Amino acid sequence: MPTLTSQIRTSSPEFEARRAHMLALLETFEQRQRAARQAGGDRALAKLRKRGKLSPRERVERLLDRDGSFLELSTLAAFGQYDDEAPGAGVITGVGHVEGRLCVITANDHRVKGGAIYPASADKMIRAQQVAMENGLPAIALTESAGANLLHQAELFAMGTRGGRGFSNQARMSAAGTPQIAVVFGSSTAGGAYVPGMADINIQVRDKASVYLAGPPLVKAALGEDAEDAELGGAEMHASVSGLCDLLAEDDAHAIALARATVRMMHRSGHARPRRVARPPAYDPDELLGIVPADLRVPFDIREVICRLVDGATGGGAEFHEFRRDYGPELVCGTGWLDGHAVAVIGNNGPITSPAAQKAAHFIQWCNAQRTPILYLQNTVGYMVGIAAERGGIVKHGSAMVHAVSTATVPQFTVLVGGSYGAGNYGMCGRAFDPRLLLTWPCSKIGVMGGPQAARVMRIVQEAAIRRMGGEPEAADMEEMEALVIDEFDRTADPYYATSRLWDDGIIDPRDTRPALSVGLEAAWERDLAVVAEPRFGLLRQ
Ligand code: COA
Repeated sequence: MPTLTSQIRTSSPEFEARRAHMLALLETFEQRQRAARQAGGDRALAKLRKRGKLSPRERVERLLDRDGSFLELSTLAAFGQYDDEAPGAGVITGVGHVEGRLCVITANDHRVKGGAIYPASADKMIRAQQVAMENGLPAIALTESAGANLLHQAELFAMGTRGGRGFSNQARMSAAGTPQIAVVFGSSTAGGAYVPGMADINIQVRDKASVYLAGPPLVKAALGEDAEDAELGGAEMHASVSGLCDLLAEDDAHAIALARATVRMMHRSGHARPRRVARPPAYDPDELLGIVPADLRVPFDIREVICRLVDGATGGGAEFHEFRRDYGPELVCGTGWLDGHAVAVIGNNGPITSPAAQKAAHFIQWCNAQRTPILYLQNTVGYMVGIAAERGGIVKHGSAMVHAVSTATVPQFTVLVGGSYGAGNYGMCGRAFDPRLLLTWPCSKIGVMGGPQAARVMRIVQEAAIRRMGGEPEAADMEEMEALVIDEFDRTADPYYATSRLWDDGIIDPRDTRPALSVGLEAAWERDLAVVAEPRFGLLRQ
């Protein structure tokens, strides 16, 4: 057996001299690296503390697993350049473990010129993206950036290897199934705004993050508009109005916890989707009997159903991470665990509006890319109608949602817990959209619309036809016709009519919903072990 044996004598003067030389070099290196890591010194740290912020290194440390590793890259990028005002090129990059999984992490050093991007910062961040792409590692961007450094824009903005390259990389990474999470902690302007904009999922910190193409001074200069920071691009605004913020965090620590929870649920190429030890629901499933009103026109919060189906959290309550909670609130979208299986849930809380449909389309694409099975809880009167809804593009946005549901390759499950009317049945994965299981509760109703609505439509149409022919409709005839339509709609909307014709896989006792779904998820999991389909499109934020 050939072996390798050392020929040097570690006690020799030559060895000692070489070692002393190397240690001297190391001293210089360590001193330079220490200085780079403390960009801005105590003054910059004091400014952060005053604003209730963590330093970029603290953010990275909290994101990483305690017992994991972190290989930091190019710690001395930009050394000796830019009058040494951008230590480490104003960005931390590296490869480290998050929830047991290697991720590429980048963090703007907001102590350096507000996190502005120097040419070397772009090179360093794009190199980190390359590492993520080559190895298919998830990329997590801890963002707080003033965008391009305006004093260096000529070496940055239009160059093919910098500027737009980071964003084209982001889109290509998404298309290649390399997931990207952006966590926005502070002001992120222009190029800094596109990082979360192009990310698959973005998390923003309440009262601290602001994301815009142009900040208040530029808006004033360009348009003469006086804009407050929060109104222009605050996290709450993005969470409820623009739809840019997917998960709203209460503070830096919460944002990092949300990023870790997101990684925990992400699909890993070549692996079956994540599972963990099951926890019982936080609330007694028996209580599912008391949630749906006898009159389905009376609204109820679908979260009351969700929190009795999914696994409980360790600290009490159900574990459920709601996606864009305050944007398009007519659809509740979120992720949790059901009997130890990762699961996404989409449930109705009112007629589906354009923002709700846009949110769902993005959410379905994300779940599909992560191979997270989707559960649809239907209680829908359909998509929003009316002049405002049509002008707002409800057909376009509803179609996008139906498109996402139809082409998702992830296992989907549907439970009718209330009404299933109109195209809401389609967008919420009705029978024609091939859910792996479609179950109904005995209180459910199904039909193109409700009986009274159909009767009213038929009456208006018939009255107009009679008048066109010169006649006058008789009220009694119209009432009789309406009653017939209502009777017919009631008869065919009945869950027993539906189940008799196999429009579903059976009516179930609401208390059996979790065990039934658990079997469905287990069955789909077996299949997933054999088939690992890759997503075919990147995520297009809507
Ligand atoms: N390019 C170059 N320098 C920038 C910069 C940029 N885009 N943004 C900020 N700076 C510099 C400031 O001039 C200041 O320099 P100084 O320390 O030498 O005085 C330093 O960064 C810190 O800025 P300051 O405004 O004091 O910090 P802050 O934490 O209060 O605010 C920002 C940070 C990012 C909110 C604020 O600086 C800002 O709005 N910058 C403009 C962002 C922008 O419009 N970018 C467009 C890029 S295309």
